[in-house]
Amino acid sequence: MDMAPLRRALPDIPVHPEDEGVQLEDPNCSTAAATEEGGVTGIHADLFFVCHASDVPAGAATRVEVDEFVLAVFNLNGSIFVTDDACTHGPGSLSEGFIEDDIVECNFHRGAFNIRTGEAASPPCMVPVRTYATVVLQDSVYIDPRRSSCGG
Ligand code: FES
Repeated sequence: MDMAPLRRALPDIPVHPEDEGVQLEDPNCSTAAATEEGGVTGIHADLFFVCHASDVPAGAATRVEVDEFVLAVFNLNGSIFVTDDACTHGPGSLSEGFIEDDIVECNFHRGAFNIRTGEAASPPCMVPVRTYATVVLQDSVYIDPRRSSCGG
């Protein structure tokens, strides 16, 4: 599969703030990237295509390289979340980690992170892993490289 980055400008898509992190049935977009302008919440950004959501089984993760990013794409009960693949503690790969609920345990020293927020959840990990605002449009997963999954 050609994983070359695909920049796409999406039209504003209304989304409610409480829908962050939740895959919407319609208009088939999800997780963060919500912005507030003039009292209207929407999604608009230049986004990177990452992978197809159907390539990431529920409860699993996939490593994806796109442009300068090396990413871990997680499927938590049908909702897609994207973080950096590299553990902040060392050479571990989070896409090869053990996933339980919202937590991924690094495959190297067994430290852990919250997949939704990137916060370190267990030592020796102390530094949060970077998360990305993620949009799932039909089966395509995109990230906004400028925003985290928490809207920052
Ligand atoms: Fe991930 Fe040490 S490299 S916990």
